[in-house]
Amino acid sequence: MFSNRSNAELSNSNIVTFSIIIPTYNESENILRLITEIEKNLPTSDLTEIIIVDDNSPDGTGNLVENYINQQNHANQKVSRTRTRNCMVKVVHRTVKNGLIPAIMDGVKQSSGRNVIIMDADFSHPPEVIPKMMQELKMNPNSIIIGSRYVEGGKVIGWPKKRKILSTGASFLARFGLSVKRVKDPMSGLFALPREFIENISIDTKGYKILLEILVKNKEIPTKEIPYTFTDRRSGKSKMDKGVILNYAEAIWQLYRHGQKSGQVTINEKLNERSVLFLSKVGRYYTVGISGLIINYIISFLLANDVANSIRLLSNVWYLEASIIGAAISATSNFFFNKYWTFEDRQFEVGSTARQYISFIGMSAIGLIIQIAILYFMVENFVPYRISLIVAIAVATTINFILNKKFTFKEKVWA
Ligand code: GDD
Ligand code: MN
Repeated sequence: MFSNRSNAELSNSNIVTFSIIIPTYNESENILRLITEIEKNLPTSDLTEIIIVDDNSPDGTGNLVENYINQQNHANQKVSRTRTRNCMVKVVHRTVKNGLIPAIMDGVKQSSGRNVIIMDADFSHPPEVIPKMMQELKMNPNSIIIGSRYVEGGKVIGWPKKRKILSTGASFLARFGLSVKRVKDPMSGLFALPREFIENISIDTKGYKILLEILVKNKEIPTKEIPYTFTDRRSGKSKMDKGVILNYAEAIWQLYRHGQKSGQVTINEKLNERSVLFLSKVGRYYTVGISGLIINYIISFLLANDVANSIRLLSNVWYLEASIIGAAISATSNFFFNKYWTFEDRQFEVGSTARQYISFIGMSAIGLIIQIAILYFMVENFVPYRISLIVAIAVATTINFILNKKFTFKEKVWA
C-alpha cells in the first residue's frame, strides 16, 4: 500500500530534488514532530519529498502519518488552492518488519528525488543538519554526504559508555578491516547521495549498516562528512539489540569476503592480500601468546611450593619467584616461536638473535605498560573489569605485535 500527498501545482512542473527517507518502527511519539521540524528547515528553492517507511508499527505510527497527510490535503484546499509548497509527505506501509535495510530500500524504490537522504525518526539526527547536507550535495553532486559524529565538531550525547565503546570499536573495525579509512563515521545512519548510487547496488547484508555496504562496494565515490551532534532518543525504544550486533558481525564478514572475491581493482586485490597476510600473522602471534600463558602457568605452578595445600611439587621456590621464572621462560619461548613461526625468520646467528631478543623483551614491557594504562582508564570509567581486561589485553597485544613486527623483526607493518 502506498499513499501520497501530491501537490498538483508543483509535482507537475518541478522535479523532486531530494527524497528524505525515514524508516519508522514505533515512532508515534516522534514522527509528526519530526516531519514538521524538517519542513520548517527546508530551503524553499527545492522540491522535497519526505517518505516515511513504516513496518506496520503496533503503536500506529503509519496511521498517524496517513491522517496527517489527509489533514494537510484538506487544509490546503480550504486555505488556498494556489499556495505553493515545497514539500510533499508520503507514507509507505510495509506489512512485515524485516529490518532497517529492506525498509530503506523500499523507500528508495518509492522515491522520485534526484537525490536521497536517509535519516532516523527519533531526533538522533537533528533536522537542522538536513539543509546543510542538501547544500553540500548540490556543491558536490556526485558524492556521498555523511552526517558524522566522529569528525571535528561532531559528537554523541546520551549514550552509555558501553554503547560508545561498541560504536567506536565497530567503526574502527570497519575502517581498517574493510579499508574504508577515508570515512570517520562509516556506520552513520544519516547520509545523502544521488539516488542512482543506492539504486544500482545490490544490498545483501542484514541489519543496520547500509552506508558501510555502499562505501565498501564503491570505493571510488568521493565522500564528505558534515559534523553533527547525535543525541540518543528521548522517546521510544532503540531497536538496537543483540541480534543487530550479530547482524553487524555477519555483515562485516560478508563484506570482507565480497572484497576478496570481487577482485575489483588490482590495488584493492593487493590490499586484501596484504590484509590476509597481516591477519594471519596476528593470528599466529595471538596463538603464540596463548601458548606462552600456558607455559607460564605450568612452570609457575610446578616450581612453586603450593602454600594452600602444602603439596611440594618440583621444588619449594617461593611462589613469586616461581612466577617470575615462569614469565621469563614463557617470554623466551614466545620469542622463539614468533621468530620461527609468526615472522618466519629462520636466521639464528647469535649476535643478531640476541639483539632481537632484547628488543622483543623491550616491546613486551611497552605492551605491559599500555595494557595497564588501558585497564586503569577503563575501570576508572566504570567499564566492568572482565570486559576491560579483555580489551586491554587485546589492544596491548596488537600494539605489541605491530611494534615487534616493525622494530624487532624489521618487517613492513602492513604485509
Ligand atoms: N521500518 C523500519 N523497520 N524501521 C526501523 C526498523 C525496522 O525494522 N528498525 C529500526 N527502525 C527505525 C527506527 O524507528 C528509527 O527511526 C531508525 O530506524 C533507527 O533505529 P534506532 O533503533 O533508533 O537505532 P539506533 O539509534 O540504535 O541506531 C542509530 O545509530 C547507529 C549509529 O551507531 C541508527 O542511525 C543506525 O543506522 C546507526 O548505524
Ligand atoms: Mn535511535
